[in-house]
Amino acid sequence: MQHRLGSKKIMVTGGAGFLGSHLCERLIDNGNDVLCVDNLYTGTKDNIRHLLPHARFEFMRHDVTFPLYVEVDSIYNLACPASPMSYQFDPVQTTKTSVHGAINMLGLAKRVKATIFQASTSEVYGDPEVHPQSEEYWGNVNPIGYRSCYDEGKRCAETLFFDYRRQHKLGIKVARIFNTYGPRMQHDDGRVVSNFIVQALTGKPITIFGGGEQTRSFCYVDDLIEGILKFMATDDSHTGPLNLGNPQVFSIRQLADLILEMTNSRSELVFESLPPDDPKRRQPDISRAQSLLEWTPTTTLQDGLRSTINYFENSLSGRGTRS
Ligand SMILES: NC(=O)c1ccc[n+]([C@@H]2O[C@H](COP(=O)([O-])OP(=O)(O)OC[C@H]3O[C@@H](n4cnc5c(N)ncnc54)[C@H](O)[C@@H]3O)[C@@H](O)[C@H]2O)c1
Repeated sequence: MQHRLGSKKIMVTGGAGFLGSHLCERLIDNGNDVLCVDNLYTGTKDNIRHLLPHARFEFMRHDVTFPLYVEVDSIYNLACPASPMSYQFDPVQTTKTSVHGAINMLGLAKRVKATIFQASTSEVYGDPEVHPQSEEYWGNVNPIGYRSCYDEGKRCAETLFFDYRRQHKLGIKVARIFNTYGPRMQHDDGRVVSNFIVQALTGKPITIFGGGEQTRSFCYVDDLIEGILKFMATDDSHTGPLNLGNPQVFSIRQLADLILEMTNSRSELVFESLPPDDPKRRQPDISRAQSLLEWTPTTTLQDGLRSTINYFENSLSGRGTRS
């Protein structure tokens, strides 16, 4: 990639995924050169097809568990399968992606003196005993369960980020992202919003795990990306960890009812047993992000669901959409 004077060269790992593709898009819109690095494990070229012809966009197929030598000004490290179905498919690879991936990307950041952002997760809080979860809470994570490859991998990545900070004075930004949804989620990755929408649109039963009383917060992708960009723009002293998400909570049953209504679906609700270690409640305390970034999510669940439903309607009918 030819580096133009004055523009920033930014690498996004996991850039062909759901969040990564939205982030690449925003970075390009803001006038940056973007290098998207992805092994297409859960991401797809469809997510970035509209960016491929762009002169300031470059795609590199690469697995972050292997070292990478490129020249960049800053790095967003998003590479990691994010849905339980995909991260449990090959749990050893999931831990490798989080841990070896973090080591490789931190090593690169150190070499080129780049600030590096880490997409951490609310899963570091595990099945929390404290509500809502603030950054001070250390979490309640099962180290040997089915979700541990993801939860502990992300926790270890945070450790690495803070040790690189302490040991090598690296510029780091660690965000703990809470449940985010929007266009370009995969159809079949088992995440609750995409699952319910696809089931409702195809007339299949809506599967609710447990009684549906468990609560979640849902952040629309545009709000999250705004928060990430604002966090990255803060000065070096702000390392995080910083919660990013939408603090409004809904029960899973409420989400299902709303999606049924918005899709005019006649799908029935079926109740199945809860998967192991599934958190009963999840709600971010975002007061730190609100005061540091002057940021707060503004998209209502109805508005966010409308554009997500529209995306799935188009993609299920084979029309595809680039929103
Ligand atoms: N979406 C959410 O609600 C959410 C919540 C918390 C944290 N996160 C984090 O944000 C990041 C992006 O999540 P997403 O929802 O976009 O998931 P996603 O699965 O759509 O995106 C992950 C991307 O990483 C790529 N990838 C996976 N392993 C890789 C490897 N070894 N080398 C290179 N690329 C690799 C995948 O191909 C995919 O494009 C993840 O790190 C995830 O843990 C997401």
